[in-house]
Amino acid sequence: MNAPETIAPAAVKTGKIMLVGLGPGSNDHLTARARAAIAEADTIIGYVTYIRLVADLVEGKEVIKKSMTEELDRAIESLDRARQGKKVALISSGDAGVYGMAGPTFEVLFQAGWTPDSDIEVEIIPGASALNTCAALVGAPLTHDFCAISLSDLLTPWPTIARRLDAVAYADFVVALYNPKSGRRTQQIVEAQRIFLRHRDPQTPVAIVKSGYRPKQRIQLTTLDKMAEADIGMLSTVLIGNSNTFIKHGLMVTPRGYANKYAVEDGERNTHDGEQAGRSLSTGLNGWMAAIQASGRNAAELAAEYRLPEDYIAAVLQAEVPSEGEENEIEG
Ligand SMILES: C[S@@+](CC[C@H](N)C(=O)[O-])C[C@H]1O[C@@H](n2cnc3c(N)ncnc32)[C@H](O)[C@@H]1O
Repeated sequence: MNAPETIAPAAVKTGKIMLVGLGPGSNDHLTARARAAIAEADTIIGYVTYIRLVADLVEGKEVIKKSMTEELDRAIESLDRARQGKKVALISSGDAGVYGMAGPTFEVLFQAGWTPDSDIEVEIIPGASALNTCAALVGAPLTHDFCAISLSDLLTPWPTIARRLDAVAYADFVVALYNPKSGRRTQQIVEAQRIFLRHRDPQTPVAIVKSGYRPKQRIQLTTLDKMAEADIGMLSTVLIGNSNTFIKHGLMVTPRGYANKYAVEDGERNTHDGEQAGRSLSTGLNGWMAAIQASGRNAAELAAEYRLPEDYIAAVLQAEVPSEGEENEIEG
């Protein structure tokens, strides 16, 4: 693979690279802008499976199919065609910026000396990522803090992945696991389960969505202790709930936290004593003091539990907490 030649700055844009996110892979979930970008393009570049997803839109265009491992080649090829004045649609499933082609493309462009003022225009066209689409198929699992971790160790060393898994399992995030398993990588999901079980209840709800919004779609609801036994493959996303996530009537839901402030009884919403709509919880930044009072533990013990430096907690406890402004916030 040869390094691309340097790009000269130019006032007039000639070629264009469009980083197109296709969404999950069904026509209904392809955005209007993504469809228009593909229509506008002279050249379509992408992984064979993704090109198949938009086969009916690419007729009459130059189509360059690349294999899974040729990501940098796809980016270099795009730059090459854009330099010839072509409009290139470089397609990714989901969103091009989420484990997709956007990062590698900018790396190749920067290496070639490209800047936003150069003669090649770059447009990123967002698509719904697997975590959004898979969540929509199983209920509302991402309604509180969440993160995504890829279990692929093809480019990231396993110790880095393991450290991130441990940190988020401990910190009680809802987690979307991308690239959980492939024909060759079968043990990463077992290791992820082992790390999670060190911090989470074995009964923590887990949803596994395989080929979401595609003809072979399969949805499994299970628990953390059984997660690794489920049918998981290259086209699966695994959603692990937090300590409040529950499954009801076949739907996985993570509460937003309204129960901390309100009680809903007989269809009426009542605010708990001392709480106010649109304002921080009454404990506010003094939550540490409330936690000490509620648990009977001291700052050092809380520091160990929350994995925070003891001097941080001590400093917050000593600080004068400014009163909140007048403006109410939307609780969301
Ligand atoms: C290289 S990543 C690409 C992610 C993509 N850019 C996105 O934003 O969704 C491939 C992984 O995305 C997830 N994925 C992509 N499409 C999916 C689908 N239709 N159903 C379930 N998971 C999917 C799987 O975890 C798969 O291993």
